[in-house]
Amino acid sequence: MNVLTLVGSYRRNGNTGRLLAMLQAELKAIAYREGHPLRSETLFLGHQDLRPCRGCRLCFDRGEGHCPLKDDLLAVKEKMRAADAVILGSPVYVNDVSGIVKNWIDRLAHVCHRPEFAGKCAYLIATVGDSPTSHTLRTMNIALSTWGFHIVGQRGFQTGALMKPPLLAERYQAEIEGIARKLYIATRERHFTNPSFLSLMTFRIQQNAYQRAARDTLDYAYWKGHGWTNPDSEFFIRHDASRAKVTLARLAGGVIAKYVS
Ligand SMILES: Cc1cc2nc3c(=O)[nH]c(=O)nc-3n(C[C@H](O)[C@H](O)[C@H](O)COP(=O)(O)O)c2cc1C
Repeated sequence: MNVLTLVGSYRRNGNTGRLLAMLQAELKAIAYREGHPLRSETLFLGHQDLRPCRGCRLCFDRGEGHCPLKDDLLAVKEKMRAADAVILGSPVYVNDVSGIVKNWIDRLAHVCHRPEFAGKCAYLIATVGDSPTSHTLRTMNIALSTWGFHIVGQRGFQTGALMKPPLLAERYQAEIEGIARKLYIATRERHFTNPSFLSLMTFRIQQNAYQRAARDTLDYAYWKGHGWTNPDSEFFIRHDASRAKVTLARLAGGVIAKYVS
């Protein structure tokens, strides 16, 4: 199993990096106990060369290889493609993700059109002084689920300005162990093959849009190339969701698509 941890704080010894390091250590311990190798890597997004999106839309229209910013984006994306699971953590900055995370999300906006990460799991973490984390987690959830990730779970941690490692462990070790177990099982047992009602419905809405998209666009070619515009196609990947769930989700998605089109 290959797990990529993405830290959305610039602080190498900040709360987010420390909590994600605890999670990674726990995942390694589980994999060791289970007798399976675990490859893991941590990237601090703020220490990558990721320049701000210029809004030229070349990634949408011609492909991400045409982005005028020749920086680390494609290398980061390649690591995400190679991973079975991605752990993303952001500190809460003024009730939302950090600018580092938002810029990374914006730079990958083309993946909203051409979801490349179906068949991968993600877990989302937010750390915060003392206010709620729901909005921050929602920002990350919307982006990563639109990119195709199966969101195994998400959790906010109150950590103050900077919590010392012993206190972090005392407060959150048990919870981190639970998260690691959940992520490990979901990734190994491929829980993404049983997509949620919402994921199936969203697929139907997107499918409807791309079935009607201009034929000469990259997005249409991508959807058609994957067979997703085919009316028989029910999800990005082969799935084992129940017939009742799929039928209802597709019905609901079809109705919503009619109203949003
Ligand atoms: C620019 C900035 C904005 C912040 N905004 C909030 C906020 O809106 N609410 C809050 O409770 N804490 C806020 N905090 C505190 C951080 O969310 C918190 O300390 C977080 O755990 C820091 O993570 P890090 O150590 O990984 O950078 C903010 C911190 C900074 C530096």
